Amino acid sequence: MKNLNNIITELKLQKNLLREDFKLLLTANGEEQKSLHKTARETSQEVFSNKIYMRGLIEFTNYCKNDCYYCGIRKSNAEASRYRMTKAEILERCKSGYELGFRTFVLQGGEDPYYTDEMLCDIVKSIKCDYSDCAITLSLGERSYESLKLLRVAGADRYLLRQETSNAEHYLSLHPQSPNSMTLASRQKCLFALKELGYQLGCGFMVGSPNQTLDHIIDDFAFIKELDPAMVGIGPFIPHSKTPFANELQGGLGLTLNALAILRLMKPNLLLPATTALGTIDSSGREMGVLAGANVVMPNLSPPKFREKYLLYDNKICVGDGPSRCSNCIRGRMKKIGYEIVESRGDYVEI
Ligand code: 5AD
Ligand code: FES
Repeated sequence: MKNLNNIITELKLQKNLLREDFKLLLTANGEEQKSLHKTARETSQEVFSNKIYMRGLIEFTNYCKNDCYYCGIRKSNAEASRYRMTKAEILERCKSGYELGFRTFVLQGGEDPYYTDEMLCDIVKSIKCDYSDCAITLSLGERSYESLKLLRVAGADRYLLRQETSNAEHYLSLHPQSPNSMTLASRQKCLFALKELGYQLGCGFMVGSPNQTLDHIIDDFAFIKELDPAMVGIGPFIPHSKTPFANELQGGLGLTLNALAILRLMKPNLLLPATTALGTIDSSGREMGVLAGANVVMPNLSPPKFREKYLLYDNKICVGDGPSRCSNCIRGRMKKIGYEIVESRGDYVEI
């Protein structure tokens, strides 16, 4: 009979497990859970030492043409107050981020057709011109191969696009099918296109989204193995009061941390953020994420007047804070648990 420590060791050595063993790790608690997190933390330290990479998040538009059932900026939420940043406003965010030590800017938004390829390429080029030592990450949802290619040529280094789930039926239960059909097949096609175009790629999923089973999470692990991304963003699902999922349960802290730890053991050099959603369900969530193997934090670079409108879920943290406050806060939080924020692009390194 295998005990949990043997399974943890097997995962560390083989980078994969039988489905039933993944289930045991996902549901681990007490001493066994501590041991899972400790092994993941040590594995992270073997690659990254006690260094944490910091990415500056610029949420530049909350318009979205999609209507995902879980998301607070879905197009049917008439109560969301919409905004778009101008190029000048985005560059201003980069300037203040650069002064605070950020060397990666993440341009994230809803799927907003207002920003044409031409406008986005111009923004990417301008940031690259002013801050040539910085990396640009885009997180703009699904786009055509041609568009992704133009953005890559313009200078974008990385792209984040969560698959959300790797089970087609579950995907359908999270996304409406008309008039804008969203399918897992098209999401996965876009992810493989991004990889082919040479982006450092991030995928990911929510933990505890409605109808999600442990088997779905294990399907995500298998998909991540196949895609082999540079980064995986995972955080708990948190209900938003103005969405169809308003009354659903939020994702569990323990399950999210266990999934993070498993990913670290599956891929020791993976970039793994301790997400804002994790910090929202527990005031020490991001610290616990790092102690379970995460090595990236993504503070927000927007001023409060925009932040308070980019609400994907209820009770989001830091909404009233400015960039310098968040950067100081996160540095302090990491220091307290023995880690240090580094001022570097923090590129993915193949091993
Ligand atoms: N709870 C947690 N995460 C969410 N996201 C969107 N809505 C929610 C929610 N209600 C996540 C999705 C998306 C990312 C930008 O934020 O996974 O890909
Ligand atoms: Fe924003 Fe703590 S990270 S106030």
